[in-house]
Order: sequence, then C-alpha cells, then structure tokens
Amino acid sequence: MRMINIEDYNQNYMQLAKPICDAKKRVLLGTGSTIHPKYKEKLIQLGIRYLFIEDSKSKGISMEEMMDMPTWLDIISIVENAYKSAEAKSPLPLTDIQKSVKQLIEEVSKRPAIMLIPTSAVDQGLSLFAHSVNVTLLALQIGKKIGYTFAQLNDLGIGCLLHDIGKAGATEQEKHPETGFNMLRAHREISLISAHIAYQHHETIDGKGFPRNLSGEDILEFAQICSIANDYENLVSKEGYVPHEAIEKIMALNEIKYRHHIVLAFSQGIISYPPGTNVQLNIGSKGKGIVTRVVSNPHRPIVRLIDINKEIDLSNQPTIIVESILEESYMD
Ligand SMILES: [Fe+2]
Repeated sequence: MRMINIEDYNQNYMQLAKPICDAKKRVLLGTGSTIHPKYKEKLIQLGIRYLFIEDSKSKGISMEEMMDMPTWLDIISIVENAYKSAEAKSPLPLTDIQKSVKQLIEEVSKRPAIMLIPTSAVDQGLSLFAHSVNVTLLALQIGKKIGYTFAQLNDLGIGCLLHDIGKAGATEQEKHPETGFNMLRAHREISLISAHIAYQHHETIDGKGFPRNLSGEDILEFAQICSIANDYENLVSKEGYVPHEAIEKIMALNEIKYRHHIVLAFSQGIISYPPGTNVQLNIGSKGKGIVTRVVSNPHRPIVRLIDINKEIDLSNQPTIIVESILEESYMD
C-alpha cells in the first residue's frame, strides 16, 4: 500500500487500498475500487487530497508507521471542540482530551518510528487542529526516545495537544502563549507543567523567542520538545519541506533554538524518507526506486529499485545515498 496525491491517481492501474470517507466518516468508495476520472474531480471538490492505493509499485510497502486515519480524525474533532469551548469561555472537554492523549501515547508506544498524516489531508478549516495532533505525536515520540514515564508522556501530550489553545481567545498572535497558559491553569485537572508548555512553546534557548525571552535552562524540557515538534510540523505542512530537508533545518538550529539532547532524541525518532517516497539513489540509471520500509535506522530506509525489482537496505550500504526525491510523474 502507498499514499499518493489524488492528482496522481490513474484508474488504469491503481486500486484503493483503504476506503475513501467523507468528513462525517461515511464510506464513499470501498477498498479495491477504482475511481472514474469524473468522480475523481468530485472527490477533489469534496476536499479529498490523498489516497491509499495498491499498484505494481506498492508491493511490500508497509505503512505501519502511520497512525490509523479514523482515530486521527476523531482526535482532530475533539481538539476542534476544545477550541470551540475556549472561544465560548466554557470549560474544556477534559475527559475527551485525556482519552485522546492516552490513544496517542498508545500509537507512539507500538511504533518504532512515526510517519505523519499530512494536515492537508483534512479540510483547511481543520488544519490547525490536525497540526496540534501531529505536534503531539511527534512530541510523544521524542519523549519516548528520552525515556519518559507514562505520567510524563501524559503531561507532555496534554500540553502539546492544547499548546495553541490561546489562539481561541487571544486578540494578538503574540499573546496566545500567555492566554493559553491562563486557560489551562484554570483547570485543576491539568498539571501546571502542561500549562507551561503552552506558555513557553515559542521561547528559544538563545533568548530570542517570545513572550518572555526566556533562555537556556529557564525553558522547560517539555516546552522545548513542543517547540521542536511545532517547528518541524510547520516546515512540512505549511512550508512544503520534505521530511529530510525539514530535519536538516531543525538540526541546524541545535544549541540555537533547542538544546542538544532534544535535537538528538528528535532525530532518533523521526524518519527521513517515509515509505512510498520515490527516490533517486547515487548509483546511476538503475538508481530509481521507492522506499518500502524503514527498519533499523530511521534515516537509512530499504529501497526497491524499480528497473531491476530488487531491494537494497541503505542501513548496510554506507556508500549509497539518496540523491533526490522524485515526483510521481518521473517514475513511469
Ligand atoms: Fe503557537
């Protein structure tokens, strides 16, 4: 199975590997179906951006690193409800939020690495909430690499899922960390450290962040984790960076924005080339391939070479590197 942009769908040789559902989770097309070009236009109008498909290239590609889409969508709507409550100045739906964080901890615990579902897979009106869910997944993945206990992951998760909740109440963008902090600390069930994640997630260790220009060790580790996850998610979802480029941008800010051990845990928990990525390796004309799995090293995937239909494991081929990422249209 692999994930493609709906624009790249071709009915002549691709079948659906997962059903297509609308925003209300009604099944529009089942597994195994093909999509007629007219219907494809309709799906695009409905806001469907990505498809999970099977074709000759998808053989052996595992998407185990990606969390289940229905669960992801459920948690997005819970975050949306939290923002609505915050706007209405009512208490936050804490039971649902706590349940969601537990589910996200489970998702992260059972996977060695995490592959994010692009926030552009949902309607634009939901992208802020999808972003929050992705930030939480990444943050929990970092927390897991650092060796946090369940209780620590729980506080980290709640703070990250609601890190931007202040946007539901603040009039100016610069005020959202403080507004969020005040909203969260008004709930006695939420730990103060989770509230501080909202307060400090735009602080950087060089003291050039906001709102308080905190620096170095004055910034909580949890807030640093949220900050790195937030920046990475924005690079990929809003600025269109591919994962390995976004990872490099983050690494370049080691000891400038983020403390070294956080950057290290981040780089150990994230994959550079997600399964399904089309790549060109530095071995000449036969080097066109597709990433099938990521097993031992998150930055050295297993690639199936298209022309000779053979897999090579980059984790034990140190001289072979990914030269570039190829668009779907180059792969035919
Ligand atoms: Fe923010």
